[in-house]
Amino acid sequence: MANTNQVFIAIIGVGGVGKCFLNQLKSLAARKPSPKLNLCYISTSRKALYNDDYSEVNMEGVVDTLAASSKAPLALPKIVDYLAAAPAKAILVDNTSSQDVADLYPLALSRGVSIVTPNKKAFSGSYQLWQDIFTAAATSGAKVYHESSVGAGLPVISTLKDLVETGDRVTKIEGVFSGTMSFLFNSFAPTQGRGGAWSDEVKKAKSLGYTEPDPRDDLNGLDVARKLTILARLAGLQVESPTAFPVQSLIPKELESCSSGDEFLEKLPAFDKQMEETKAEAAREGKVVRFVGSIDVGANKVKVGLEKFDPSHPIAALKGSDNIISFYTERYGSNPLIVQGAGAGGEVTAMGVTGDLIKVVAQM
Ligand SMILES: NC(=O)c1ccc[n+]([C@@H]2O[C@H](COP(=O)([O-])OP(=O)(O)OC[C@H]3O[C@@H](n4cnc5c(N)ncnc54)[C@H](OP(=O)(O)O)[C@@H]3O)[C@@H](O)[C@H]2O)c1
Repeated sequence: MANTNQVFIAIIGVGGVGKCFLNQLKSLAARKPSPKLNLCYISTSRKALYNDDYSEVNMEGVVDTLAASSKAPLALPKIVDYLAAAPAKAILVDNTSSQDVADLYPLALSRGVSIVTPNKKAFSGSYQLWQDIFTAAATSGAKVYHESSVGAGLPVISTLKDLVETGDRVTKIEGVFSGTMSFLFNSFAPTQGRGGAWSDEVKKAKSLGYTEPDPRDDLNGLDVARKLTILARLAGLQVESPTAFPVQSLIPKELESCSSGDEFLEKLPAFDKQMEETKAEAAREGKVVRFVGSIDVGANKVKVGLEKFDPSHPIAALKGSDNIISFYTERYGSNPLIVQGAGAGGEVTAMGVTGDLIKVVAQM
């Protein structure tokens, strides 16, 4: 018989989100002593801490202990073997953005190991992987939660699941799904004032830490496309991959082949005119331009790109780097259910992960 008074927790990934998650886990374990949350494995890509007899890895100072460890991580399938053989149920927390770790979920779930993660890769990759994950979970009873894979800690996935599972009919989902794109367009095309030149705004966003090291990784729209893929699938659409629908890239064709993000930023001012024209065209209609994703459920259409909005529209009025997601449904009629707030950041993303962990533990 499995021991029901403790739960084993393995964490892969101790970066910005992983460190915040560790602090939240430590605090949760202190506040809720039963069942005992037993950290049994923790790793980055090069180092690990674990004990063959499953004795607890001390959470106090664990980031430093891990950095000083000379133990290499187990090969990914071996982590599943280790967790499946634990003396009580186990949860794998994937705080990486690794496709290799994501590809492990069907095996982990099929062997009774639950998954909690902010990693988008498993749910926005091939449709086959999506099916394998949820079939493995349904067969074994292990749980899989990924709230922070869309909108960080905002209740986006749980809201959509509740709408669908309670029998509402979701007709459309629309929103700003990227903190970077939100920041860029709120300052490039503000509802009041002129806004700066496009290349200046991209440089500013980078210097404030809002973009990836190479801003093209935000401007190509793929990150938003991945989030839309996840929501479309949860709404019942069989989206094959994040490249199976139109995604507008904001990288000028001529700059796709730049060898570095710095070279890209250096050459970007020569292309400001294109974006300035887009802004001016919207202004002539009394509108502002925003980078949005939308899912038309009835028409089976998903798209990502620039759209024009009236300044009074909630999408146009967004501030800073906030995300906004509007759910149009039969029950909510013409006034959508709106979720809005910070869609990035270590603490809020980790909050979504910790919240998922609590849900899994409650069902064990
Ligand atoms: N940061 C946010 O605001 C935010 C918001 C929403 C969702 N997310 C998602 O949260 C996840 C984590 O983001 P982050 O910002 O914390 O990333 P990060 O700072 O880059 O940290 C990633 C961590 O994962 C480890 N890692 C990567 N590949 C690995 C592998 N194959 N095996 C073991 N460890 C591996 C890295 O170890 P090394 O350092 O040794 O490589 C590092 O500890 C990502 O999926 C991201 O998309 C983040």
